Amino acid sequence: MEAVILAGGLGSRLLPLTERHPKHLLPVANLPFLTHQLARLADAGADHVVLATSYHAGAFEPVFGDGSRLGLRLTYVTEPEALGTGGALRNAADRLDARAGEPVVVLNGDQLSDHDLAGQVAGMRAAGAVVSLHLVEVADPRAYGCVPTDTDGRVTAFLEKSAAPVTHQINAGCYVFDRSVVAAVPAGRVVSLERETFPGLLAAGSRVVGFLSGGYWADVGTPAALVQASADLVRGRVRSPALPGPGGSALVDAAATVRPTAHLGGGSAVGPGALVGAGAVVDGSVLMAGAAVAAGARVTGSVLGPGARVGTRTTLDGVAVGDDATIGVDCRLGPGTRVPCGATVPDRGR
Ligand code: GTP
Repeated sequence: MEAVILAGGLGSRLLPLTERHPKHLLPVANLPFLTHQLARLADAGADHVVLATSYHAGAFEPVFGDGSRLGLRLTYVTEPEALGTGGALRNAADRLDARAGEPVVVLNGDQLSDHDLAGQVAGMRAAGAVVSLHLVEVADPRAYGCVPTDTDGRVTAFLEKSAAPVTHQINAGCYVFDRSVVAAVPAGRVVSLERETFPGLLAAGSRVVGFLSGGYWADVGTPAALVQASADLVRGRVRSPALPGPGGSALVDAAATVRPTAHLGGGSAVGPGALVGAGAVVDGSVLMAGAAVAAGARVTGSVLGPGARVGTRTTLDGVAVGDDATIGVDCRLGPGTRVPCGATVPDRGR
């Protein structure tokens, strides 16, 4: 199996965490996020993966090298100017092997899922379709484009976000493409799979099918979603072939320091060189490399970028703290707060 991972987006919804890093390399359960996708592809039988990069393109190869550690062959492709999801796929396609008759798996590089990838490939073949989209049902589809299907699983429309969606089915960002469809995407210009390629296929009467699954699915595109996905992996609510064991209440890197009276829970992940001080509570949170939580602080549902520091007795709930930012003592920051990279939040009372 060959695959392309689309990993060149700006990740602006994840700012400030994506100011200095592509979202695909942010640690999720203490591993660069793409590690989970690559391990899963290898598990499903992929042997060659093309990474379609653009934003912070040079950051990927030093992390994954030739892919052999993951049992894969990796090829890196860079767009000097981001070409959108379709343009990126077309650009990456030139680096796929010539494997006539074998479809290509395409992943958005920010989805965590445990659906049956081999089953999706087989389903597309059995249906005689040219594209298969992984679909999931979400409780509130208003924030997403919807993808209705008929009783045979054939996609009938691609609908934009709406206040009154006709279905709870949404595009989960994992596709199987017949190679003829990839080759037909225009080269050298910006193309959106979602807004141009898929609607164009339907208009032309091509057979596009949905592969609906009821398992775990998350889009790690926001700080809250990234923190949740990390905690779900740590607790074993979703399995990643890159993580051994059944999961637990926290994952602490061997090179982190956690004082004996600190409390870690809720699937928190503590990265290398991070420090959790005496009596501090870290619950359902991500502490990246070198982040520090001082004594008596409480950090809940939050993410601290590399080198970020949280002062004594400070409380964070649902906060994203950028790289090397410093939050003073006795502060209280609530849901949705984003602290820019390198910023300083003064001690409370000053
Ligand atoms: P936001 O800026 O937060 O919306 O994130 P994003 O830029 O990553 O966009 P989005 O989540 O819609 O992208 C879905 C997937 O496609 C992600 O894995 C992106 O990295 C990837 N992607 C989006 N645009 C491009 C592009 O122009 N080139 C490449 N190579 N990948 C892209």
